[in-house]
Amino acid sequence: MIRCLFLFSCVVMIQCHLLAAEKGVNKTTCTTSSCHDNLSKFAHIHRPLKADGCTVCHQVKAGVKTGANGEKANHPQLIKIERKNVNKTCIVCHDDKVQGKFKLIHGPIEKNSCVECHNPHGSENEKLLKQKMPELCIKCHESKQTVIDFGHGPIYKSKKSCLNCHASHFANHQPMLQFPVKEACFQCHDKEQKSPKGATITAVGQTMKSRKVHHKPAEEGKCSKCHDPHGSQDEAFLMDDPMPPKYPLCVSCHKKPMIEEQTTSTATQFRNGTTNLHYLHLNNTTGKTGPRSCFICHEPHASNQPHLIRDQMEEFGVMAPIQYRQNENGGSCAAACHGVKTYDRVKEFQNPKGR
Ligand code: HEC
Ligand code: HEC
Ligand code: HEC
Ligand code: HEC
Ligand code: HEC
Ligand code: HEC
Ligand code: HEC
Ligand code: HEC
Ligand code: HEC
Repeated sequence: MIRCLFLFSCVVMIQCHLLAAEKGVNKTTCTTSSCHDNLSKFAHIHRPLKADGCTVCHQVKAGVKTGANGEKANHPQLIKIERKNVNKTCIVCHDDKVQGKFKLIHGPIEKNSCVECHNPHGSENEKLLKQKMPELCIKCHESKQTVIDFGHGPIYKSKKSCLNCHASHFANHQPMLQFPVKEACFQCHDKEQKSPKGATITAVGQTMKSRKVHHKPAEEGKCSKCHDPHGSQDEAFLMDDPMPPKYPLCVSCHKKPMIEEQTTSTATQFRNGTTNLHYLHLNNTTGKTGPRSCFICHEPHASNQPHLIRDQMEEFGVMAPIQYRQNENGGSCAAACHGVKTYDRVKEFQNPKGR
């Protein structure tokens, strides 16, 4: 990772001697001198500075400096490192910080500036970072500020913060992700987690592995089509509301007539003859409990039954099996809400009246 350590220490030794000799002092070095001792007062000091190696990065030219009492002394002048040369300076030793085979390069590196994030001399923060995480990132990505107020656990409770998912320098997955989205999420959601309120968050990764019917966007790893991984006002970080009366999250991909047309012979497969059973259930035409959610029947990620139908549903505060059966032209169910009811798309099924 670090090239030229040996060469570098020789260079440093020679440079120190040269500098010390030039200043006419024997033991004092740049950083132990009172002039630049601020550079050795960081909690974390960049290794080359520990060896007093100013000149591994700065070029020097001879110069004359006037001291506090007007005395003149020969003093090497550091030549300012221009922005366009900063990265080159660093890569001399950090030869792994080049794009190489990576597909993506982070904006500030492309703009030639390692020092946007690192202090080349030293820092109070680990890895010579100019600020702690996630403030370092938020400095430039202000839109991710909300994460601190309504944030996703890993960002504000783990030290890696944004880097649980993103890379700081180079990456292979858009946008600057270390892994494909699904893998990034299953690092943690392959196991149960606890919500800030102490509730158990299901191991979605395990659920998806153990159940055979998958919701296509979840299967394809498009988790962020539904969840904002940075957090949102919603408890489940949903991008939009999945709930009645308008179900905007679901209808961002599914067609509205499927739930809005009272009668249809095309808009949905969930119909008895032409009676739209999505409309019927969601709008609750029997009028006892107000409009219903999709989740009384469907799972958002994966299920054991066809069409993402759940095994159980909650009705009046208790869980009861749905007992969904699929057949060629429709299906049937016997949920807690009613006895066996059958639907048939081709020839309307006459269910007995009442529940
Ligand atoms: C690892 C490379 C590196 C080493 C070693 C290094 N510098 Fe720097 N120094 C830089 C870079 C890069 C900048 C420009 C920073 C910027 O533009 O933000 C800089 C800027 C400076 C500045 C301008 C003020 C500032 O802080 O931005 C001074 C003064 C300075 N260095 C002194 C020193 C001295 C004295 C030493 C040795 C004790 C030293 N540097 C060692 C890379 C280095
Ligand atoms: C002369 C060689 C040399 C140059 C030039 C150099 N570095 Fe380093 N850097 C090192 C060494 C040696 C270490 C310590 C490596 C270790 O501990 O594994 C280090 C460590 C680091 C670290 C990690 C610090 C930590 O606490 O783990 C960062 C960040 C870093 N350098 C950034 C830079 C940047 C930015 C530049 C350009 C401004 C730069 N380096 C130029 C030699 C160099
Ligand atoms: C956008 C901010 C950012 C920029 C720009 C940046 N770094 Fe870093 N760097 C980080 C962060 C954050 C870490 C600590 C976490 C990690 O290891 O990824 C780090 C860690 C490091 C480390 C120590 C760990 C390691 O991977 O070896 C070195 C060395 C380093 N950076 C060098 C560089 C160099 C050289 C450049 C310019 C080519 C650069 N960095 C540009 C944010 C940045
Ligand atoms: C000095 C400013 C700066 C800092 C600090 C910074 N970034 Fe960036 N970042 C950029 C720029 C510039 C781009 C490229 C332009 C863009 O797409 O917004 C970028 C791009 C990105 C992208 C890809 C965006 C996309 O739409 O493709 C991600 C993700 C990202 N940064 C995350 C981070 C993380 C995580 C950190 C903290 C380790 C960080 N950034 C720190 C400036 C910064
Ligand atoms: C749990 C994983 C995860 C964490 C932690 C995370 N991100 Fe992201 N980030 C993602 C994913 C996934 C996307 C892609 C979203 C999409 O599909 O548009 C993304 C997109 C981005 C983008 C580009 C698109 C956009 O939404 O603007 C930026 C910039 C970004 N993240 C910055 C950050 C910053 C800054 C942090 C820390 C404060 C952070 N991320 C923490 C997963 C994460
Ligand atoms: C580093 C671990 C980690 C990673 C990676 C991670 N999460 Fe989380 N996630 C958690 C923890 C811990 C919680 C619960 C605590 C909290 O948010 O404060 C949580 C909570 C959630 C919740 C809220 C659940 C609820 O109802 O309260 C959702 C949704 C979620 N994560 C989705 C994702 C998605 C999508 C990804 C991938 C882009 C992802 N997570 C990546 C650790 C992680
Ligand atoms: C089609 C939209 C959609 C997609 C795609 C999606 N989710 Fe979800 N997810 C939801 C909804 C809706 C909920 C909330 C369910 C509820 O409130 O019962 C949820 C809940 C969660 C929870 C919290 C579970 C709990 O027990 O509280 C996690 C974690 C989660 N999703 C992670 C993921 C991951 C990881 C992916 C990608 C593999 C993903 N989601 C893809 C819609 C989606
Ligand atoms: C990002 C787009 C997207 C979002 C958002 C989305 N879905 Fe889907 N959904 C799909 C795709 C794609 C399919 C597969 C369709 C196909 O194969 O014809 C699918 C299939 C389904 C199926 C299974 C259909 C079958 O017959 O097997 C159900 C049920 C479903 N979605 C319900 C929902 C619900 C409920 C929501 C809201 C919480 C939702 N979807 C949000 C894209 C989405
Ligand atoms: C009362 C239970 C129930 C409710 C509530 C429900 N669905 Fe369905 N849904 C079904 C059944 C059963 C099927 C399977 C129809 C078939 O193919 O036989 C289905 C099929 C689907 C399909 C596949 C395409 C189609 O229309 O046949 C999608 C997409 C879908 N539902 C989305 C939703 C969305 C979005 C909501 C909430 C707005 C929702 N469902 C509410 C039971 C329900």
